[in-house]
Amino acid sequence: EQIEKGGFDHFMLKEIYEQPNAIKDTFRGRLRVAEGIVKISGVEDNLQKFMNADRILIIACGTSWHAGLVAEYIFEEFARIPVEVEYASEFRYRNPVIRPNDVVIAISQSGETADTLAAIKLAKESGAFVFGVCNVVGSSISRETHSGAYTHAGPEIGVASTKAFTTQITLLTLMALRIARAKGTMARADYYRYLQELELVPDLVAEALKSNDNVQAIAAIYKDAPNCIYLGRGYNYPVALEGALKLKEISYIHAEGYPAAEMKHGPIALIDERMPVVVIAPKQEHYDKIVSNIQEIKARSGKIIAVVTKGDTQVKALADHVIEIPETSDALSPLLATIPLQLLSYHIAVMRNCNVDQPRNLAKSVTVE
Ligand code: G6P
Repeated sequence: EQIEKGGFDHFMLKEIYEQPNAIKDTFRGRLRVAEGIVKISGVEDNLQKFMNADRILIIACGTSWHAGLVAEYIFEEFARIPVEVEYASEFRYRNPVIRPNDVVIAISQSGETADTLAAIKLAKESGAFVFGVCNVVGSSISRETHSGAYTHAGPEIGVASTKAFTTQITLLTLMALRIARAKGTMARADYYRYLQELELVPDLVAEALKSNDNVQAIAAIYKDAPNCIYLGRGYNYPVALEGALKLKEISYIHAEGYPAAEMKHGPIALIDERMPVVVIAPKQEHYDKIVSNIQEIKARSGKIIAVVTKGDTQVKALADHVIEIPETSDALSPLLATIPLQLLSYHIAVMRNCNVDQPRNLAKSVTVE
């Protein structure tokens, strides 16, 4: 097992560090920047279905559901297709409206999650076209769906999902770009710029991983906190949810993710000098709004751990701690902002002597209800 961990103390840490290469593997043969091409065979084979989709329904569970939420923002922005993201467990039991021109995307690392599988069967019965985004080749979901694409992240052993999440987002971003290009909903210049920026992402993720020592030092300060709040806006709102989920899963610390602007409708009541608040605040649209959220937390003596764009000064002046990530466009920033949050939960879990790779009560894939 030590050999399998490749010199890392845990599979989770190994998998966190595998992300630059895992994302490259998701690109392989699909992202051809020089030719200006994105080609995913399952998408090419069904391009008309995606182009004519009145709506995309995304069904998933856990971390895969969070990847679906990021994809909602990306598909709507790039391809101008309305997207709804549902927990598979809710979808399967609530007689959902599925129309002939709806396209269903099921996201699952393992391809074995019972609720997702059941939701797929239900969607197929309603006549919908169902596309699978899976990691495990030959899995039940990859066989049950009409078509699909693999993330090619390689085996993920740690129960808490890391590289599966970033590769799911990568693949869904490629899909959205391909469909946007076909539909003409994205300006040519933007399309080419995204291809170039995407190709840089593995190096930027490697750069983001260099925050590890800083994150470890922050983890040492907050390891005994009983609660934690995660805030993000726009593309990074799902990243806040995912950051909170990671902390819950492996550190057993109660954590909540919220869209930053919703703080005033409840969570702000929780903020005092004992409450750490992780704020995802890269330089992006509505940056000024997140700065004012940070000021509101500071006014209530909350402890602010901010994920910022390299070189940021405004948030730095307000936050108790900052973690820098490289600059990229807003839509790609979840791929970078996620990295320090994975590391934060990892280090806190290690410091609390938790079983990082096999947290209590959790399973890698939930094949029963
Ligand atoms: C379990 C795992 C999570 C995972 C979820 C969905 O709860 O512990 O890490 O996100 O299942 O799994 P899937 O394989 O469908 O992505």
